[in-house]
Amino acid sequence: MKALVTGGAGFIGSHLVEHLLAFDHEVVVLDDFSTGSAENLAAVADDVTAVSGSILDEDALDRAMDGCDTVFHLAAAVGVHTIVNRPMESLRRNLLGTQAVLEAARRHARRLLLVSSSEIYGKNTKDNLCEDDDRILGSPLKSRWSYAAAKGLDELMGFWCWREYGLGVVIVRPFNVVGPRQSGAFGMVVPHLVEQALAGQPLTLHGDGTQRRCFCAVADVVPAFVVLVEDERAHGRAFNLGSTEEVTMRQLAERVLRVTNSDSPIVHVPYDRAYEPGFEDMARRCPDTTRARELIGFRARTCLDDIIAAVAADQRRSPRETVGAVTEGAT
Ligand SMILES: NC(=O)c1ccc[n+]([C@@H]2O[C@H](COP(=O)([O-])OP(=O)(O)OC[C@H]3O[C@@H](n4cnc5c(N)ncnc54)[C@H](O)[C@@H]3O)[C@@H](O)[C@H]2O)c1
Repeated sequence: MKALVTGGAGFIGSHLVEHLLAFDHEVVVLDDFSTGSAENLAAVADDVTAVSGSILDEDALDRAMDGCDTVFHLAAAVGVHTIVNRPMESLRRNLLGTQAVLEAARRHARRLLLVSSSEIYGKNTKDNLCEDDDRILGSPLKSRWSYAAAKGLDELMGFWCWREYGLGVVIVRPFNVVGPRQSGAFGMVVPHLVEQALAGQPLTLHGDGTQRRCFCAVADVVPAFVVLVEDERAHGRAFNLGSTEEVTMRQLAERVLRVTNSDSPIVHVPYDRAYEPGFEDMARRCPDTTRARELIGFRARTCLDDIIAAVAADQRRSPRETVGAVTEGAT
């Protein structure tokens, strides 16, 4: 396979690039390095063709896609802070950017894996969300929901490219992916809490800490991207990818303290002080991954303590700078 990875210099993208190279695939990365970094690809820099450019640039897309047979589309504006603080720019990247990638894939007749998100389920707190479950989104005037709205439309465009044009499109919805190299700077709770714990600072939780999430290791998720895009039975379908080990944010903070041997206190910050007045979060988000398990044997194997330990080890090796973000959404 010769694969184009958009957003390949980002957290998940760089792990996908390493995985593809480990299986002797050729890789081209297209990234504008807005949240990604060359450092993320440092270990494989000699083996990758990295193109600096935007998915919004048709020429850059055509150049990057030329000669590739498969596209993994990950480039996006990600993280609650990014979405809330730069709403128009984020929408352009997440909506028009994906449209441009799909149109280029159609021009070049490439199969494509579209990375959507569990955020599309919005405030649906049902036990074990299935791919066909309803979406419950807040007002479009609350910028927090623009990510979920854009990802939902991305899925629609991807689905119709498959249905109308016969393009081999697979949609994946990762649930809170975590691992080494993830930055806490844009609203990702695990790296942020680990960083606070290692620095001996208070662990800050937004809201009352009863929000429930399932965190999945990046190493469990990226192999599934490759298997799914190669399997024609997956084309035209969406797949949840995530862990079913559920924790409250309070429990997560306590686990971080235990795994990192930290005695930092846990403090709570109201949402409207952390983000914007009227900010809404989802109380719970837990996936049903039966569809991916039945088709490709997907299973999240890494437990939360091991995920936290890996993030802590990575941060001890190369500390990352973050801002005051502590929720988990818009990913
Ligand atoms: N991290 C998670 O838990 C999670 C969960 C669900 C879905 N996702 C999705 O996975 C993908 C990767 O997310 P991530 O967590 O690795 O975030 P990330 O910010 O590390 O990666 C995004 C990458 O896209 C690049 N990018 C952004 N806009 C671009 C543009 N216009 N042109 C080219 N490159 C651009 C960034 O520089 C970055 O390298 C995203 O599509 C995200 O929506 C992530």
